[in-house]
Amino acid sequence: MPHRDYVFFYLNGEAIHASGEELFLNLTDFLRLRKGLSGTKVVCAEGDCGACTVLRAFPKPGDRRQPSFEAINACIVRVAQMDASSLVTIEGLRRLAPVSELHPIQEAMVRCHGAQCGFCTPGFVMSLAAALEKGPLLEAQSVKNKLTGNLCRCTGYQPIIDAALSVDASKASRAASVYLTSPMLAMLRKVQKLGVYGGTKEVRFEAPATQAELRRLRKKFPKATLLAAGTDLGVAANKGRFAARHFLSLHLLAPLYKIKASGRALHFGARVTLSEFRQALEGTPSLGEFFNVFASPQIKNFATVAGNVANASPIADAPPFLLALDAELEIFSPRKASLRKIPIKDFYLAYKETDLREGELIWAISLKLPTPSERFSFAKISQRRDLDISCVNVGFFFRPSAKNASRPSALRLAVGGVGPTPLRLLQTEAFLMKEGLNARTCKEALSRAQAEIKPLSDLRGSSAYRRLVTQNLLEKFLRSLPQEESLGAGQL
Ligand SMILES: Cc1cc2nc3c(=O)[nH]c(=O)nc-3n(C[C@H](O)[C@H](O)[C@H](O)COP(=O)(O)OP(=O)(O)OC[C@H]3O[C@@H](n4cnc5c(N)ncnc54)[C@H](O)[C@@H]3O)c2cc1C
Ligand code: FES
Ligand code: FES
Repeated sequence: MPHRDYVFFYLNGEAIHASGEELFLNLTDFLRLRKGLSGTKVVCAEGDCGACTVLRAFPKPGDRRQPSFEAINACIVRVAQMDASSLVTIEGLRRLAPVSELHPIQEAMVRCHGAQCGFCTPGFVMSLAAALEKGPLLEAQSVKNKLTGNLCRCTGYQPIIDAALSVDASKASRAASVYLTSPMLAMLRKVQKLGVYGGTKEVRFEAPATQAELRRLRKKFPKATLLAAGTDLGVAANKGRFAARHFLSLHLLAPLYKIKASGRALHFGARVTLSEFRQALEGTPSLGEFFNVFASPQIKNFATVAGNVANASPIADAPPFLLALDAELEIFSPRKASLRKIPIKDFYLAYKETDLREGELIWAISLKLPTPSERFSFAKISQRRDLDISCVNVGFFFRPSAKNASRPSALRLAVGGVGPTPLRLLQTEAFLMKEGLNARTCKEALSRAQAEIKPLSDLRGSSAYRRLVTQNLLEKFLRSLPQEESLGAGQL
């Protein structure tokens, strides 16, 4: 099988071949220490502050469309993960600016006094540069949404927002015109066809480019650590809580990038990012809102939905959302020719334990989007609105029966943060399905729900607080549903 033992990417237009121990360097260390590109800063090293923001374009294997440049956090990824990409750092912006001038974003930051100590500034500039790739920056709220992954501790945000809104977009060249020219794109597509077998004696990095190769590797090394975007793994590694001896990256497998939408059915592969999932849900407004409170643009542009599901954190945000939509997981098994399918409600077995058997991995996820007559609600309670981990999160779904709107023909009540796994309140659901919705049954449902959860106390919230939050969110949802008129929702 032809393969390579290096990863290949462009860095500000320079062709980089990295191999051996270099594969496992933090991208920020590689940029700052090996390449002398110290404009990219490191503050938190956890993906939280955005000081390390760089732009990345990655042509998806099997997809002929031109990729866009997106902001990502360089501090939580390793060099190997940049394979087959084009990267632009703050130093690279110079070539997108008019000759011998600052980039229009930098010029606006100076003019509007958008920096004091300046440590966060390259990160802000890069996030705004990513936003500018999609079009002019016109609205304050949209600018704020683009900057939820960037923190500034001294300037205050208003001058930065003012700077963003005053940028003269016509003066900046698009990153692709310099950093993803046709020959560069062709080169990246060429290297993607070859799997990677690299690393050192101590740590291996492998990335199969075909399903047959994946099968072979998974059979031989069923315990190798699967790497999607590595946003969970990268933070754990930076904190010294995780080290692997063998990585198997899924980034070269074309089927994992596919999104198929047909009517209400949506089917997407395990390498689909949170941002791409969001785009796929754009036509269903109540679903898209979920992403406003999910991580930051930098994380959403890189992290996968499947990684969020597989990580099996009881407070991950995708599971309650997918549980409420009764999503189905397609599981790749190295020993079987066909994919195994399981409902996500059967996936979580115990704390951080899933139904994945030896060598298996999530291949794809499918779900059905709600119709206008169905109700769907997602809510996340955290200490901070943006870029914070959930204390409790819920996904609720209700479909009225054709004859009686207050009687559910389907009801799914999913909650995270109240037990060792994300879970469905199956007994409460069964009770309401049988008894219908009225003030008495809804009240009873609230107390039955309490019997189904076992929240712990931790720094994000006490057990009592989590119980109260779950009750309030469920009550709010039940109140929003049609109920038997004789009793009325107001009596709940
Ligand atoms: C700053 C920051 C903010 C965050 N905010 C949020 C948030 O608001 N809400 C939230 O829920 N999460 C959040 N996260 C957590 C994380 O970003 C998500 O869980 C993300 O979706 C993980 O995806 P990934 O592709 O990076 O997974 P990875 O880190 O690559 O993988 C996660 C785990 O899943 C395994 N895995 C990956 N792909 C597969 C597969 N196909 N089959 C089987 N196993 C697989 C890996 O081996 C690993 O154990 C945040 C993280 C950071 C750093
Ligand atoms: S250094 Fe804070 S997000 Fe990377
Ligand atoms: S200018 Fe000092 S942290 Fe933002």
